[in-house]
Amino acid sequence: MSGRRILVSPSLLACDFSRLADEVRKVEEAGADWLHVDVMDGHFVPNLTMGPVIVEALRKVTRLPLDVHLMLNHPEQYVKPFVDAGAHYVTVHVEAEGLRSQDAVAKALSRIRELGARAGISVRPRTGAEAIKPFLSQTDLVLAMTVEPGFGGQAFIPDVVPKIRQLRGWFAGDLSVDGGITDGTGASCREAGANVFVAGTYVFRSASYQRAIQSLRGSTA
Ligand code: DX5
Ligand code: ZN
Repeated sequence: MSGRRILVSPSLLACDFSRLADEVRKVEEAGADWLHVDVMDGHFVPNLTMGPVIVEALRKVTRLPLDVHLMLNHPEQYVKPFVDAGAHYVTVHVEAEGLRSQDAVAKALSRIRELGARAGISVRPRTGAEAIKPFLSQTDLVLAMTVEPGFGGQAFIPDVVPKIRQLRGWFAGDLSVDGGITDGTGASCREAGANVFVAGTYVFRSASYQRAIQSLRGSTA
């Protein structure tokens, strides 16, 4: 783990959307490295959130990399709209309906890179690490879900920690954890090899965004 950069990606799902630009400015000033954007289609997960128009709006108010997490059954249909809107990272789920074959997953990842963005692949808590092993050589970001995707504010699932360690053994790139991340749960993921910390509730419901972000880096300074 030594030498790998620790990055914090606040999940906007927990922000005050009536003051979106202001929230973005505040987390940026508080030291956020990326901004995590949760896109849900009401099918892959039971919730509906935001589309490319929001990414386009975010692009205008920040220079931070936009870390777009697609919880969609057909992410392959939306790669271009999100990259065009300004996504730096586009992450697809290996369990998505439209990515049932290895060929489909490989195509989606190479399409993301061809369009000039970085390619991410995500696994639900109960999906084994083996499911994404064949794709790691064409992946920039691995996102291990530490709650069932769909909603913010859920409790961290500690059973995922051994999988993080396993993935780190195979993958040298950015390894992200998402769901129920706090200073405490983040520390156990960091110890297992994660270096990107996505946190919604913990950052946006805290009294000090700066202190929350710092604590996710493993320091209280
Ligand atoms: C859940 C999303 C997460 C969510 C995390 O499906 O992928 O990014 O916003 O929220 P917290 O940090 O509140 O668990
Ligand atoms: Zn997410």
